[in-house]
Amino acid sequence: MSKLSLDRILQSQGFGTRKYCRELVEDGELSINGEIVRSYKQAWETDGLRFRIFDEDWEYREHVYIVLNKPANFECSRKPSHHPGVLTLLPEQFSWRDVQPVGRLDHDTTGMLLMSDDGPFIHAQSSPKRHVPKLYLATTAEPVTPELVNALLAGVQLHDEPAPLAAQVCRKTAEYQLEIVLEQGKYHQVKRMLAAAGNHCAALQRTAIGQLTLESLGLEEGEWCFLSPDQLALLVPGS
Ligand code: URA
Repeated sequence: MSKLSLDRILQSQGFGTRKYCRELVEDGELSINGEIVRSYKQAWETDGLRFRIFDEDWEYREHVYIVLNKPANFECSRKPSHHPGVLTLLPEQFSWRDVQPVGRLDHDTTGMLLMSDDGPFIHAQSSPKRHVPKLYLATTAEPVTPELVNALLAGVQLHDEPAPLAAQVCRKTAEYQLEIVLEQGKYHQVKRMLAAAGNHCAALQRTAIGQLTLESLGLEEGEWCFLSPDQLALLVPGS
């Protein structure tokens, strides 16, 4: 439980500088429990605090944990160069509070992208030691053969890796489509593994992280949602 003044609360939630947040409150932009509150000095319990600002309802969150259903042609990099960044798909407040992607998807890869402003969470979730399985649906340029599936399960050698990399799970789902589960997150890993096994990745979608599936979230491409504690627990291996 902790109490903070309203200007600090709004700043922590990404509504701008402290000075700007003070002005917002004084200008009557903020309501709590249906009442406009104009004194930014007033301290409020942050736990469970709900407020309305710019005609939108918000809940105080110490950190945000979200999933975006990433569309193609958006970059995960902080300084995107050829396509807009994924942060442009989220409310502006998230950029102010330094929400970042947890790991990266290529600009043309679609599907589940975790994002957060919790540094230790980002670090733990993207650490190779954690072995978080990630499920991808790959569309291939050539038909999926039993030899391709076996090669991906046995491990393929990528030229800059010391040892072959293997899929934890790989199964054909259509003539030109397979599902593949990886625990590492090497650069272009699915595409490079498919190429090393003699095929080519024509399209790629991430459909699950740990036990949390994109389908269960019901997000259209470009949509995002906050993750509940139960959903967050599904990201941890062994849950
Ligand atoms: N593997 C790839 O090749 N690209 C991605 O975006 C993710 C995994």
